[in-house]
Amino acid sequence: MTDVTGVAAVEEIRAEVLRALEMAATEEQLEDLRVAYLGRRGKLTQILRSLGSITPEVRRETGAAANELKEVFEEKLAARRKVLADKKLAALSGQEKIDVTLPGRPYLRGGLHPTTRIIREILDTFVSMGFAIAEGPEVEWDRYNFESLNIPKDHPARDIWDTLWVDYTDDSGYRPMLLRTHTSPMQARIMETVNPPVRVVVPGKCYRYEATDATHEWHFYQIEGLAVDEGITFGNLKGTLYEFAQRMFGEERKIRFRCDYFPFVEPGVDMSIDCFQCDGDGCRICSHTGWIEIMGAGMVHPNVLSSAGYDSSVYTGFAFGMGPERIAMLKYGIDDIRNFYSNDLRFLREVGD
Ligand code: PHE
Repeated sequence: MTDVTGVAAVEEIRAEVLRALEMAATEEQLEDLRVAYLGRRGKLTQILRSLGSITPEVRRETGAAANELKEVFEEKLAARRKVLADKKLAALSGQEKIDVTLPGRPYLRGGLHPTTRIIREILDTFVSMGFAIAEGPEVEWDRYNFESLNIPKDHPARDIWDTLWVDYTDDSGYRPMLLRTHTSPMQARIMETVNPPVRVVVPGKCYRYEATDATHEWHFYQIEGLAVDEGITFGNLKGTLYEFAQRMFGEERKIRFRCDYFPFVEPGVDMSIDCFQCDGDGCRICSHTGWIEIMGAGMVHPNVLSSAGYDSSVYTGFAFGMGPERIAMLKYGIDDIRNFYSNDLRFLREVGD
C-alpha cells in the first residue's frame, strides 16, 4: 500500500484525473473515469481506504488531500456531465426538426360528470339495500306523468309541475305528450309490468317549464324510489331513508319528516337532515334553520296502487323522489345548480372525477 499513500501519490492522481476529465468526450467515458477513481477499486478509493493502516502523521495530510481531491473530482465530473449533455441536446435539436427542449403538451383527461358521480353513489347505496335499478322514457304520456299518479285532468295539483308539452299526432289523431316533470311516472310503469314485491330506484332526466336561477334548472335529474309489498309501513320508509341519509352524509346525521302534499302519496312528507355543516346550530347552508330538505316521500296512495292493477287492500308501499344535483350541491358545497350544465371546464375539473 505504501506506493499509493502519501500526499505525493494524491497529487499524482490529481494531475492525472484532471487531465482525463478534460479529455473525456462522452458521458460513457466520464462514467469510466468515475469508476476508475471512485469506484470500489478506484485509485482514490484505495487511498482513502488505506488511511487506517498508515502512521498518524502521514494520515492527516494524506487524508485531507485525498478528501479534498474527491470533492473536486466529483464537482468537476458533474460539471463535465452537464456540458456533454447540453452539447448532445444541442446537436439533436439541430438535426431534428422538433424542439426537444419544449415541455410536452398535457393530455386532457376526461372524467365523470359530477351528476353521474352522485347518481352512481346514490344508486349504489340503494342497491346495497336490495333495490333494483330501472329507467324509463323522458317523453311521456299525460296518463303516466299525471293521471295514474292520482292527478286527474284539470286537477289544481298539476300546477305543482310547470309542464313542457310536446305536440304528437298519430293515426288516432292528436295526442298530447309531455317532457316528464318528475320520475314518478315510472312508479306506474313498473307496477303495470311487475308483480309485488317491488323494490326499485329510477334515475332519470326531468324537465320543467321554469325560469332558471341558482336553485332551479329547467332540466335536472331525479332519483325515484318505490317499495311495494304486503305489510310495508311508514316505519320501513323511515328506516330506509334514515340509512340512506347516514351513508350519504355521515353516521351522526338525524332526520326529520314534515307533512307535505303530493297527490300520489298519503301521507306525504318532506324529509330533512340536520345540517352537516353546523350540526343543527344554524348556518348559511341550512338558512339558519338547522335542517336541510333533501327529498319528498310518502306512502303510495291506494288510488295509484289500484290504477296500476295492484290490490290496495293487500299491498302497501312507500315512494320517494330526490334531486341528485341538490344532493351534490350539499355534499360538495356547490352554490349554483346552473354550474352543472353550463359545461365550464373549471367547474367540471373541480368537482368531477
Ligand atoms: N315526484 C315528486 C316531485 O317531483 C317527488 C316525490 C316522489 C314525492 C315520490 C313523493 C314521492 O316533486
